[in-house]
Amino acid sequence: MKCKKCGTKASVNMRQHKLALCKEHYLEWVPEQAERFIKKYDMFSHGDRILVAVSGGKDSLSLWDILVRLGYQADGLYIGLGIVGGFGYSSESHRLAAKFADERRLTLHVLDVEAEYGQPIPVMSDISHRGQGKPCAVCGLTKRHVMNRIARDRGYDVLATGHNLDDEAAVLFGNTLRWSGEFLLRQGPVLPEVSGMARKVKPLCRFYEREMTAYALLRGLEYIYEECPFAEGSTSIYYKEALNRLENDRPGTKLTFYLRFLEARQQGLFAQQADARQGLHLCTNCGQPTSAPGLCSFCRMMYKVHGEIEIP
Ligand code: AMP
Ligand code: FES
Ligand code: ZN
Ligand code: ZN
Repeated sequence: MKCKKCGTKASVNMRQHKLALCKEHYLEWVPEQAERFIKKYDMFSHGDRILVAVSGGKDSLSLWDILVRLGYQADGLYIGLGIVGGFGYSSESHRLAAKFADERRLTLHVLDVEAEYGQPIPVMSDISHRGQGKPCAVCGLTKRHVMNRIARDRGYDVLATGHNLDDEAAVLFGNTLRWSGEFLLRQGPVLPEVSGMARKVKPLCRFYEREMTAYALLRGLEYIYEECPFAEGSTSIYYKEALNRLENDRPGTKLTFYLRFLEARQQGLFAQQADARQGLHLCTNCGQPTSAPGLCSFCRMMYKVHGEIEIP
């Protein structure tokens, strides 16, 4: 296989785009594409201060790398979840996120959940009885709360996460299987700012996971290879595997599934419902938007953990 741009030996073959590129041209192509998507979905501009949520994995570190290469003002946020696992998942991912930032003299905010909220995620999960014995639900809730809080408190214009096409297609698949109208309405490359909640964007949502792996490897980024030990057996991994089987037989399936969904929604497929981010009110404790009356889910969880609240 030859590089489409220069004819030398290709390093990455993307059947889904009918495109093969050598290392050099691939490392140019990825940020060019990212810039196209950032503009197409009107995610942010060069004057904006961007907070990138970095987990130490290939997607979020690649995202940070791409944004910096494109000349955006992007700082990082690492959330220490306190997940120990066999190899020290959280400490290793923290080390890699910090190393990335240090080597490039970038600003990384670090929030340790145990230091800030009294308990690491697995303990909070046990005490609050959320999520059927798995900490993932409490983890997701906490990450969303913290990302939002830091973005708001530190005055960032936009919060960016490293979700890739495989992540987004798997979520879409789950929401479609259940026809969860409210979630379908909310899923997309951009969630606009509402009072108490920062604008959220997913600049990698059109990149296949393997495109991001190739980018991280070819750029020589050091990232954590292991998944969170609690991810094993999760529904989202099951959906990803199912979609990969379809993709294998019909390259491009995942991308078409996701893009046609975005188009359908833009054409008003779900228009009869009000915007899911409207109709929210502000949590009486932390001030972040919630659909629940009174306290938001995070503050209710913290109330169960501590028996009291006044948590930022
Ligand atoms: P996940 O939910 O683990 O698939 O992660 C999705 C995105 O959330 C990542 O690409 C990151 O942008 C962000 N993220 C996940 N874990 C963390 C963390 N511990 N600290 C900061 N951001 C995170
Ligand atoms: Fe949150 Fe695994 S439970 S990353
Ligand atoms: Zn080339
Ligand atoms: Zn709250």
